[in-house]
Amino acid sequence: MTRRTVRIAMNGVTGRMGYRQHLVRSILALREQGGLDLGDGTVLWPEPVLLGRREHALREIAERYGLEHVSTDLDTVLADPDVDVYFDSQVTSAREESLRKAIAAGKHVYTEKPTATGLAGALELARLARDRGIRHGVVQDKIFLPGLRKLKRLVDAGFFGRVLSVRGEFGYWVFEGDWQPAQRPSWNYRAEDGGGIVVDMFPHWEYVLHELFGRVTSVQALATTHIPQRWDEHGKPYDATADDAAYGIFEIEGGAIAQINSSWAVRVHRDELVEFQVDGTHGSAVAGLRHCRAQHRGATPKPVWNPDLPATEVFRDQWQEVPDNAEFDNGFKEQWELFLRHVHTGTPYHWDLLAGARGVQLAELALRSSAEGRRIDVPEVAL
Ligand SMILES: NC(=O)c1ccc[n+]([C@@H]2O[C@H](COP(=O)([O-])OP(=O)(O)OC[C@H]3O[C@@H](n4cnc5c(N)ncnc54)[C@H](O)[C@@H]3O)[C@@H](O)[C@H]2O)c1
Repeated sequence: MTRRTVRIAMNGVTGRMGYRQHLVRSILALREQGGLDLGDGTVLWPEPVLLGRREHALREIAERYGLEHVSTDLDTVLADPDVDVYFDSQVTSAREESLRKAIAAGKHVYTEKPTATGLAGALELARLARDRGIRHGVVQDKIFLPGLRKLKRLVDAGFFGRVLSVRGEFGYWVFEGDWQPAQRPSWNYRAEDGGGIVVDMFPHWEYVLHELFGRVTSVQALATTHIPQRWDEHGKPYDATADDAAYGIFEIEGGAIAQINSSWAVRVHRDELVEFQVDGTHGSAVAGLRHCRAQHRGATPKPVWNPDLPATEVFRDQWQEVPDNAEFDNGFKEQWELFLRHVHTGTPYHWDLLAGARGVQLAELALRSSAEGRRIDVPEVAL
């Protein structure tokens, strides 16, 4: 086996996503398993360069994991010919400029979503990447979740017949930050810092709907701020200027209708933090992060509406667990592996900056729909 090092500049590794999911659960996990076997006698060995604004925080992480490379200077890192890939999990508002620089420097880029703060910027990134001839990818982790992979298996098997509707419920209570610390960063609740549940979650809904059921052709959304004041990481009160809940309806190519509630101001009475119920002519399924339960047409009971009597059936018991039938690794890591293979062996990879732009587009049009109080068509994006 030949060991080949791939040096990855990771910008934003002190953050929630950058640290836990991308550095520890993906890149360091790949090192723990001995690298990524490309299947051609080569093993890729990821070598992270921890990049960010706070040197002491980066050094602390580097020491914890025995890593060598740390920098607070993006330009110098991008000028280093040994750096192959630039990865970005910074706050959303800082992303576009850094990605532009990385593309201009000829690095392959992999990035968290949303790729930019508006569709024009997201498309421009995709164009620049195409013209520079680099390889690029955007995190679309939800479709790598075990629950959604099992749901996809049902779709591919034709289990649903004609899909009629999809109902998604996402959210949980995010503490305001006064009497209990908030479990999400405060910038998420400030529009001026790139926050808001629509820009955060609608890019996910775009690829989930697109990959499983078809392209979204229209959106109607109502975005709102239920909790107008919150307390930040230093216990200081601030005005929550971004939407913390959004109620969306989406038309899907082929006729299915999706309705997804997203909220950081809802208490969970569900089995998982996100769940999608799919109803089709031949069967239905409810999928979450890990589980997927199905009910076939032939096993559908016949409830009769009668408010005078207590329910005689336990409806949840009438569904069948879809078995794993496979081992599921961390979804972020699986997508990293596919991206690194794509970079090194040219295997196809469609979760790219153009796919990322579709997510930005849906968020942008959803916010416009909410502001204007009307349904809006979603045109196909093209470079
Ligand atoms: N794929 C997913 O499921 C998922 C989930 C959550 C967040 N995200 C995305 O990941 C990105 C990071 O989110 P997070 O929750 O990890 O945020 P976070 O606040 O925990 O981390 C942000 C990172 O950006 C850095 N940063 C750079 N410039 C900054 C600035 N001007 N102000 C503040 N921090 C700055 C911080 O040092 C930190 O490393 C966001 O773009 C978000 O949309 C994706």
